[in-house]
This record gives sequence, C-alpha cells and structure tokens, in this order.
Amino acid sequence: MLTRLKAKSGGKLAKQICRIVLDHFDKEYSRELGESWNTVRDILTSPSLWQYAVLLNRFNYPCELEKDLYLKGYHRLFQGSLPDYPKSMKCYLKRTPDQMPSERHQVGNLKKYYLLNAASLFPVLALELRDGEKVLDLCAAPGGKSVALLQCAWPGYLHCNEYDSLRLRWLRQTLESFIPQPLRNVIKVSELDGREIGDAQPETFDKVLVDAPCSNDRSWLFSSDSQKAACRIHQRRNLPVLQLELLRSAIKALRPGGLLVYSTCTLSKAENQDVITEVLNSYSNIVPMDLRGFTKHCSQDFTFAPTGQECGLLVIPDKGKAWGPMYVAKLKKL
Ligand SMILES: C[S@@+](CC[C@H](N)C(=O)[O-])C[C@H]1O[C@@H](n2cnc3c(N)ncnc32)[C@H](O)[C@@H]1O
Repeated sequence: MLTRLKAKSGGKLAKQICRIVLDHFDKEYSRELGESWNTVRDILTSPSLWQYAVLLNRFNYPCELEKDLYLKGYHRLFQGSLPDYPKSMKCYLKRTPDQMPSERHQVGNLKKYYLLNAASLFPVLALELRDGEKVLDLCAAPGGKSVALLQCAWPGYLHCNEYDSLRLRWLRQTLESFIPQPLRNVIKVSELDGREIGDAQPETFDKVLVDAPCSNDRSWLFSSDSQKAACRIHQRRNLPVLQLELLRSAIKALRPGGLLVYSTCTLSKAENQDVITEVLNSYSNIVPMDLRGFTKHCSQDFTFAPTGQECGLLVIPDKGKAWGPMYVAKLKKL
C-alpha cells in the first residue's frame, strides 16, 4: 500500500503527495543535485509556493490587463536582459506565488493570456524562430509551446504533432483559442508517432522542437493512482530510449543548417544530459550550441543547476523563483 502525505496547500484543498514517487526522487535527485534537492523538494511538494507566469496573446492584446498586472506587482520577463528577445512576446511574472484565473474556451473568441511555467519559454526562445520559417513541434499537446512560438514570429509553416488522440483534441482547442484564422492556415496538426516523421519528411524543417515525453516530476509527485505511479517508476528507465528515437527522427526531419531544441520537465540526468551526450557521440553532423547566454542574463528570475554542458541548461525551482524543472539543449545540424 502507498502512504499518502498532505502537501502544504496554504488553506486550499490539499493535494496528496505520492510517497512512492517522493522516495524514488529523494534517492535519485539527492545524488544528482546534492544539497539543492532539499529546496527543490520543498517547492515541488508545496503547491502553495508554485508560481504561474502570464503570457499575453498578441492576437487579442489585453492592454488593460497589462496595466492590472503591473498594479498587482508583476514585471515583464526578459525585458532588457536578452538582446535577441522578440518584442512581440510579452510574459509577466511575480516574485510571490499568484495565479490569474484561467480563461474559459469560447468558440469564436480568442483568449487574452496563457498561464504557464515561465521556464517553458527557454526552449521556445532557444529555437530563434523567424518569420517565414518551417518549424516542427514534434510532441505538441497541449500546445503551450506552439502558442508561445507564434508569439515570437509568423512562420511559413508550423507542423504540430501529437501521438495521443485525447491530448490532440486539447492541442486543437488551444490553437483555436489563441491563434487567429489567417495564421491557423499555415499550421498543420497531425496525430503521428513522432518517431516516424523524420522518414516521412526528411530535411524539411528549418527548426524542430522536441519537447519530449518525460518523467514530469511535478505531476508524478501528485499521482492519484498508486499502482500507476509504481508502474511509471518501474518503466522510467525506458524513457531515454523513446527520447533518443524521437531525437533521431527530429534530426532526419531537420534541413542541414537547421536548429534542434530538446526539452523536458524533469530533473533526471538520464533523460536530460545523458540523452544529449548520446546524440552528440553518435552524429558527427550534430553540434552543440551555446546556451550560457540564458544562464548569464536570466539569473534574477531563474535558478540554474550546473549541467556540465554548454549546450544544456537546467532550471530548478527555488524560493521566489519556483520555475522548472526544465532542461533545454540546443543543437545544430551541419
Ligand atoms: C511534455 S509533453 C508536450 C508539451 C507541449 N510541448 C506543450 O508545451 O504544451 C510531451 C507530449 O509528447 C506526447 N508523446 C508521447 N509519445 C509520443 C510520440 N511517440 N510521438 C509524438 N508525441 C508523443 C505526449 O502525449 C505528450 O503530449
């Protein structure tokens, strides 16, 4: 039987922490992160400390809301800190926990903002999307990164793929809620195994994002089905195989000179650095791209753990900066 712990919830309905997952993470992450794991653990297990950033939708720009956010103590993320930051992408966050209400989906109405973990913007920014480019979002549901990509530029073609049919419906709804019809005309949505897209569309894309299926540390800690949780932990060691297969497909789908970004929302070294090291060791035409600019310029709002890689960064939740976990690696095909 599984022991359940009550998370510190700040008076809200307490979420239950899954003991079996926590014990497993304790073992693995205290080894991999050392002392830092204690703080990360405190935040991941205390939903009252979680933070939510507000990404404004440039296609239904909420001027009044922007003023309200300033009044509530939010500030604009990345403003002035990143030289190549796209002006059209506006994301606000606060140093203390706060959550704006989610907007309801209404057919025919575009939503004004998307709530997200601010660290999710790193893979999007690392892709450096430019107007007119062909881009593939290989594992796209529920669509947060696709929406964020479209805040940065107007691609010539965006292929959003998702293997799970339920999540595919969620992805379609996200795109319908945030993206106006003329831009939706350049978006193709597919329900394929991402491992097959490389063979089907070789050397097609300027940019490919692999936001891979992973251990998803935050949500696994709150698994409500104990048997499922135990099964996930058992099968966890197979995830790097799937992640590598998705990356191989992405590399095939990428044109020479194109950029590939890999991301996960786990702290697991096996699913992060080790997967990227394996790619770099097995492809002579894939080279690492330096991401240290992000770690250098964004430490006011994010805490980064060392990865031992110039091409890989790891955002870890910290007090007042509860963003992540998020691993991002950037590669280029020669
Ligand atoms: C981390 S989530 C993606 C989140 C999304 N990029 C976003 O920002 O909203 C990973 C997704 O990969 C999907 N997935 C799992 N196996 C896949 C496969 N073989 N091919 C394509 N997608 C897959 C999962 O169903 C899940 O929706």
